[in-house]
Amino acid sequence: MVGTKGGAPKISAGSPSSALPTAMQEASRIVDETLDRVLPKPHGLHGRVHEAMRYATFAGGKRLRPFLVLNSARLFGVELARAARVAAAIEVLHTYSLVHDDLPCMDDDDLRRGRPTTHIAFDEMTAVLAGDALLTIAFEILANAQTHPSADVRNALVLRLAEAAGNNGMIGGQMIDMQAPQKAFGTDEIVLLQRLKTGQLFEFSCEAGAILGEAKPQDRDRLRSYARDMGLVFQITDDLLDVTSTAEKTGKAVGKDKEQGKATLVSLMGIDGARAEATRLARRAVATLAPYGNSAPELCELPLFLLDRES
Ligand code: IPE
Ligand code: IPE
Ligand code: MG
Ligand code: MG
Ligand code: MG
Repeated sequence: MVGTKGGAPKISAGSPSSALPTAMQEASRIVDETLDRVLPKPHGLHGRVHEAMRYATFAGGKRLRPFLVLNSARLFGVELARAARVAAAIEVLHTYSLVHDDLPCMDDDDLRRGRPTTHIAFDEMTAVLAGDALLTIAFEILANAQTHPSADVRNALVLRLAEAAGNNGMIGGQMIDMQAPQKAFGTDEIVLLQRLKTGQLFEFSCEAGAILGEAKPQDRDRLRSYARDMGLVFQITDDLLDVTSTAEKTGKAVGKDKEQGKATLVSLMGIDGARAEATRLARRAVATLAPYGNSAPELCELPLFLLDRES
């Protein structure tokens, strides 16, 4: 189980003998330490934006993207301190996406990571600004020489994160998602929107380890392809939890997708159909890592573990 300060989302699933929950907890601890160092402490006339940035970030959260960065980096022998900074960068960017996703003009949610969303705890203006500041600081972290001594590596990280988060990445997916209630989307459109809104940040998280390790293009491609399937598994299970779980377990409101007419594979295929599709993709993700043999046991276990997640 991944413990969190906000008492919010905790991953609890998988076989009782699995070492994954402990590994995830350890990744959480590492990234939280780094986040505490890189995020500004409230200061100055603008201290309120720092408070909101920290409120959103330290509310809990499964720290799944940092876990992927740390484990993909380990596969290529990357120094932990460097990987931890990239893990912090993707986590603050992800947190910004949640702060904005919850705004009244988007999904209009009051509960996130087990407590009031940032615009409820502060106000809308502060939530917009805190989100903007979390997005910006992600690139500041990557561009800083402490992340990697090579400017080429830092540049590659900045470029990939910009692509993953921007108009042809997460933002593009959010745009399609927001328009979905007015459209009759089929499987292809839903898969595209999910690959963008969720999958792209997973792709960055996995590829980042190979970039930090200056691995071959083939390794970068392999890690991305693994993440592409796993990102879909993750979003399909998020959509399943919206139907089958509770706010207490997930730390956020449930039943919202149907209420808001969101296009999901669950609405299209039903619970069993969506679960079967997620299982197929999880197996394919694991198979992609076969060339690494037993070097990445956590990455191999994760997709199947996610199928049974409860939060
Ligand atoms: C929620 O992501 C947004 C989606 C892409 C479905 P997570 O479920 O990883 O959120 P936290 O970080 O654990 O709160
Ligand atoms: C959000 O997807 C994805 C991003 C924030 C980019 P959802 O809207 O399904 O996420 P939740 O369910 O609010 O966490
Ligand atoms: Mg949304
Ligand atoms: Mg939402
Ligand atoms: Mg959701």
